[in-house]
Amino acid sequence: MTAFKFDPKKLAKLNNPERLHRENPELIWTTLALPSPDTVIDIGAGTGFFAIPFSRKMPHGKVYACDIAPEMIGWMEENLPDDCRQKVIPLKMTENTVPLPDGQADLVLMVNLHHELENPTALLGEAWRLLKIGGKLAIIDWRDEQTPDGPPVHIRVSESHIREQTHKAGFTDIRAHNNLPCHHFVVAVKEA
Ligand SMILES: C[S@@+](CC[C@H](N)C(=O)[O-])C[C@H]1O[C@@H](n2cnc3c(N)ncnc32)[C@H](O)[C@@H]1O
Repeated sequence: MTAFKFDPKKLAKLNNPERLHRENPELIWTTLALPSPDTVIDIGAGTGFFAIPFSRKMPHGKVYACDIAPEMIGWMEENLPDDCRQKVIPLKMTENTVPLPDGQADLVLMVNLHHELENPTALLGEAWRLLKIGGKLAIIDWRDEQTPDGPPVHIRVSESHIREQTHKAGFTDIRAHNNLPCHHFVVAVKEA
């Protein structure tokens, strides 16, 4: 079955400032409590809604803003704010593969992506490969219940399913944070 994919023609929706309350990047960053990160890999980065503010949290760090859609990569290349141009690197990826070396990320971030994945097992394995030992995977996706906005409920993924898939991919210390009104927020660690 072909997975539901976000329509790049609707990319302006991703920049809706209402999201700053519903999916507050500041709150998400604080909750993640990364000790001294220098590399974030944002998979399914869209327009960089998270990549941009996260890059500003790391004075000497980089965010690789990865997406399968050339429209998203092109949009970021044209529209990144000047202060982020050296720090946010738009990067075209394929469905399950990020063209970056092993073991370099402090954080792999996936927001509003899980319900679009063709093969979650393969992409979670890719996240594992990309992370440093001690690095974190954060999966934030629409709760599988009716919310004022978001994709059809029948394609959303339950928190228990996300936890199970994450566990099977080898992650440990899997925690769910309950501080976003419409989203699951699951964080897991790549331990040695
Ligand atoms: C709903 S948008 C979310 C964008 C961004 N994370 C945000 O929350 O603003 C989902 C994005 O994931 C991308 N996408 C879908 N499947 C993907 C995959 N397997 N790997 C990378 N990106 C993917 C889509 O092209 C789209 O840009």
